[in-house]
Amino acid sequence: MTSDPSADPSTLAGRLRDAGSLKWTGVDAQIAAWVAESDLGTAPVVLAAARDAVGAGLVGYLPPALRADLGAATAELHAERYGWDVDPARVHPVADVLTALQVTVEHLSPAGAPVVVPTPAYMPFLTAPRLWGREVLPVPMRTDDAGRAALDLDAVDDALRAGGRVVVLTNPHNPTGRVHDRDELAALADVVSRHEGARVFADEVHAPIVHDGRRHVPYASVSALAASQAVTATSASKGWNVPGLKCAQLVLTADRDVHVWPRVDHVATHGASTVGVAAAIAAYRHGLGWLDDAVAVLGEHRTALAEGLAEAVGTRVRWTPPEGTYLAWLDLRPAFEVVPDDLARWVRERTGVAVVDGAACGEAGRGFVRVNLAMPRPLVVEAGRRLAACLR
Ligand SMILES: Cc1ncc(COP(=O)(O)O)c(C=O)c1O
Repeated sequence: MTSDPSADPSTLAGRLRDAGSLKWTGVDAQIAAWVAESDLGTAPVVLAAARDAVGAGLVGYLPPALRADLGAATAELHAERYGWDVDPARVHPVADVLTALQVTVEHLSPAGAPVVVPTPAYMPFLTAPRLWGREVLPVPMRTDDAGRAALDLDAVDDALRAGGRVVVLTNPHNPTGRVHDRDELAALADVVSRHEGARVFADEVHAPIVHDGRRHVPYASVSALAASQAVTATSASKGWNVPGLKCAQLVLTADRDVHVWPRVDHVATHGASTVGVAAAIAAYRHGLGWLDDAVAVLGEHRTALAEGLAEAVGTRVRWTPPEGTYLAWLDLRPAFEVVPDDLARWVRERTGVAVVDGAACGEAGRGFVRVNLAMPRPLVVEAGRRLAACLR
């Protein structure tokens, strides 16, 4: 998982490109720090489970026993790591988090209601609901007293008053790396409760990756009120780096959803992959040691980026190291009189580093870039150095 800290960045990049991931082959760049895939691989037990499933010929539709085991493993993980008691029968496999959002929007929320998306946001949350015939109401996040991104609850309240009925809560947050605390989540539940039928889609896909001894707090675990509003989506896809295995989990805590579910179950769960279910079970039951090591490496990569960026920090770049996720959110606005229209391209042409343009995360992200820290350490340092140099 770790890389030789003295290895040459271009050799490392060449090896990763040869391995052929989307991150390293989807964009023409010398350093691929864009899409949220990790170069650290996955846990051997997860790979073994996927291989065993294939070896046993488990490549058909999802057998009920495996599905039930996923519910049990998801519940075990949430009890052990987050102190949240999940009913295994209320855990349902879906292909991915976007499918979970689609089901929530189309079947578990008032028909036709707009979707409230705090911004900056994971990019598809701003576009996908429109494809499902829903208006998106972007709500810029605020900066709290500690300089961190925080929910603007008054603005969320306004968006719900304007008709929004699904609030997309991403926690830990992509792209800002914020890990919301219990008080903030409880305050959101209070605001949402003022609006008849309003729901919270809690995207907790980054929950396994939190730093500095923090503990992820699942939204639905905060109170009975939050549980009655929540539709929770989680997955092994970020923590164990297996998005291609197509298995997320949707956790229902509102009784009314449990009544609706049988009607949507077949279509909603059909895309979850049998091999992905086997891999997720292995990750949750046997992959926690590997995860903890990976999170320690990713946490240290925040220092690696700081090292690379050093000469620009405070003058041309502002950032707060992420509390969770392996994404760094850099404010480059101090470096420009006028921010270039396509900031990711501007950066890539000058540095060879592929990043995500903050503007793709909503207007609130204009002038920011998102940098993926899940690369070998020398590449993280080098990406930081090149960024700092191009802003001179
Ligand atoms: C916040 C967030 N939600 C959802 C996803 C998509 O997850 P998946 O497609 O693996 O379910 C991502 C991927 O980067 C993400 O960052």
